[in-house]
Amino acid sequence: MRIELVRGDITSQEVDAVVNAANSSLLGGGGVDGAIHRRGGPAILAECRRIRETRYPDGLPTGQAVATTGGDLPARWVIHTVGPVYARSQDRSALLASCHTESLRVADELGARSVAFPAVSTGAYGYPLDEAAPIAVRAVLGADTQVEVVRFVLFDEAAERAFDRALREATGQPG
Ligand code: APR
Repeated sequence: MRIELVRGDITSQEVDAVVNAANSSLLGGGGVDGAIHRRGGPAILAECRRIRETRYPDGLPTGQAVATTGGDLPARWVIHTVGPVYARSQDRSALLASCHTESLRVADELGARSVAFPAVSTGAYGYPLDEAAPIAVRAVLGADTQVEVVRFVLFDEAAERAFDRALREATGQPG
């Protein structure tokens, strides 16, 4: 597996699947979630609603992942995952790692070979980048998956620096 780090917008990534930093309702939000639904169009939300009705009436649990169509996005699929809200009093790193390994497991079920991740939980959910980046990079590096390319799409300079440092520390090489 190759890990790439790029600065940019997750909605414009030409990969098989993009990962959405969703919430358990799967009914949209701001940040990545808002951008994916805005640019991907109503087909994504329609499938999210069906997933809620048929499989997750109480919402998608934190750390789990489900796939929908990519709608009007360049990506064929969106893999929605729910990151943990950061808590100083509780170590939720395993849930954040699970977002990545579960998204890759869903990608394998789809037959996706390239997957783009945003920096899950580091926005509205308040996870510090210097904690989230190593968790995300190590979870991906340690995953047993057929996915060939994992691309972290960083929205700002701080995220790019944090992931670059995490990748170097985990592999000894720059992104
Ligand atoms: N492309 C790539 N990265 C983005 C984009 C984008 N278009 N928009 C925001 N980001 C970055 C943010 O800068 C942050 O680093 O994605 C990271 C995750 O931020 P959020 O989207 O706020 O996601 P998260 O912290 O996981 O919070 C999820 O926010 O949008 C709601 O419905 C969502 O309730 C859920 C919560």
